[in-house]
Amino acid sequence: MGPGPSEVHPEVLEVMSKPLVGHLDPAFIEIMDEVQELLRYAFQTANEWTIPVSGTGSAAMEAAIGNVVVPGDTVLVPGNGYFGERMAQMAERAGGDVSVIEGRWGEPIDIDTLQTAVDETDPDVVCLVHAETSTGVLQHDLAKAADIVHENGGLLIVDCVTSLGGVELRVDEWGIDVAYSGPQKCLSCPPGASPLTLNDRAMEKIEAREEPMRCWYLDLQLIADYWGSDRSYHHTAPITNVYAIREALRLVAEEGLEARWDRHEQIASSLVEQLEALGLDTYVSSEDWLPTLTTIQVPDSVDDNAVIEQLRTSAGIEIAGGLGSMAGEIWRIGCMGHSAREENISLLVDAMASSLEDQGFEPMVD
Ligand SMILES: Cc1ncc(COP(=O)(O)O)c(C=O)c1O
Repeated sequence: MGPGPSEVHPEVLEVMSKPLVGHLDPAFIEIMDEVQELLRYAFQTANEWTIPVSGTGSAAMEAAIGNVVVPGDTVLVPGNGYFGERMAQMAERAGGDVSVIEGRWGEPIDIDTLQTAVDETDPDVVCLVHAETSTGVLQHDLAKAADIVHENGGLLIVDCVTSLGGVELRVDEWGIDVAYSGPQKCLSCPPGASPLTLNDRAMEKIEAREEPMRCWYLDLQLIADYWGSDRSYHHTAPITNVYAIREALRLVAEEGLEARWDRHEQIASSLVEQLEALGLDTYVSSEDWLPTLTTIQVPDSVDDNAVIEQLRTSAGIEIAGGLGSMAGEIWRIGCMGHSAREENISLLVDAMASSLEDQGFEPMVD
């Protein structure tokens, strides 16, 4: 129940023990087609260019940013969390001229601030994080953000690592040009094959590049040989991870996206209510709260690491502390995919209550 990986679904684990076929075997090519179709459903897109990138979420992030950002491009990145900082680093390495959209950790990027930043910098590419795993903040208004970016002629890249399959995400309806994710969060699948989708505008920009992307392995113009219609060799696909993501996505489709978004919201709301009943406070306001990752303020009298360790050793439950500048300030509790179940919440809340008691924490009574 940390910020990921979440508990892998048993049916996903089972398919990972199946014998390998070759990455060009007709049977595997059928599996590739199915994965692409299921990914389109999960992203709510008709984008032809929808693939699992071989590697973790950062590989999908680098494939998105490294291909779309052309040297000399002006790029805007969000200044409200750890993963926005990573986007900035990648955009700089891709040769972008990067500016940060002013933002505070614990809050989403304000849409008027985005408008001002776009007016001031005239960006070719704007990056946003839908679900900021470092703070537990949900970025609202992605459709409005896309309008602002498009009116100015740019492309919008959105990090959906902690939202895909867990909170409402509609790539086509909202006008997102490029979105990527990771399988180990709300899809409850091991890391290794990471979802990426790009619309025609983004692909046209990539195809028109005068200078190839700097990384051979993640160059989408080359990967097109394998994941495009040719199905010819570029690199050996991580076969087992592709089996796994197909099964994980099949489970998403079986449950239905809307039902899955509702389940995450319900289970995570129950988590928040029960933790508040213990006298704890959430770090993020209820309007900006991200159901898949709840952040809780560490009370002054409590040692955050001692609680994390006690949960791990005495109850077998993983939660995490704050990332980057949030270390020591918050706990991060995931409610993702197969982990998002009422029985897990009860176990966690009981273990948390006894650990807080051991620490001598006395909740303030209103
Ligand atoms: C929002 C976000 N973006 C990107 C990443 C990077 O993914 P990975 O660690 O799988 O490379 C993560 C990982 O937690 C994340 O939470």
